[in-house]
Amino acid sequence: MSDRAPKTTLVVNGRARELSLDPRTTLLDALRDHLDLPGTHKGCDHGQCGACTVLIGGERVLSCLALAVMHDGDEITTVEGLAARAGAGDAPEALGALQAAFVAHDAFQCGFCTSGQLCSATALLAELARGDLSVVTPDDDTVRVTGDEIRERMAGNLCRCGAYPNLVAAIAEVAGQGEEGAS
Ligand code: FES
Ligand code: FES
Repeated sequence: MSDRAPKTTLVVNGRARELSLDPRTTLLDALRDHLDLPGTHKGCDHGQCGACTVLIGGERVLSCLALAVMHDGDEITTVEGLAARAGAGDAPEALGALQAAFVAHDAFQCGFCTSGQLCSATALLAELARGDLSVVTPDDDTVRVTGDEIRERMAGNLCRCGAYPNLVAAIAEVAGQGEEGAS
């Protein structure tokens, strides 16, 4: 892209990155092809599988459906950033709690969907902590960590390997409920 292209600054995993992008570049391609962050995966490239999920301002976004230039100045977290901010004092390569739970519960097989699942699950934990309602929240509007809440909130992330029960168990553990509580 020519140097005359407008500059776009993406704050990715806490680091400001300035790019000159074709305005048609998706956020997914900007991350993978321009910023050398291949952890965010391209599955369908049509907003249907969730493999490309990243966090923007803590909310999940399908990066294949977002134009990078629309996120000038935004704080973006990719799966690489989840590892880096595993906890104060942890080494950058330390696993976060969700990542460790995914390993412990065998929540992946081929791993293609995993980065998107981890980003979505990170946002899910924040939603539960805030008490955000979903369509399966009971009529008393009390959000509990149940299998139904987790499945509903993770419904946009497909897993071709079918690791769904293990994903639910891993997320439930980190959300503060055992597998039983989330069944
Ligand atoms: S690659 Fe974005 S939803 Fe499938
Ligand atoms: S682990 Fe293979 S697609 Fe989910």
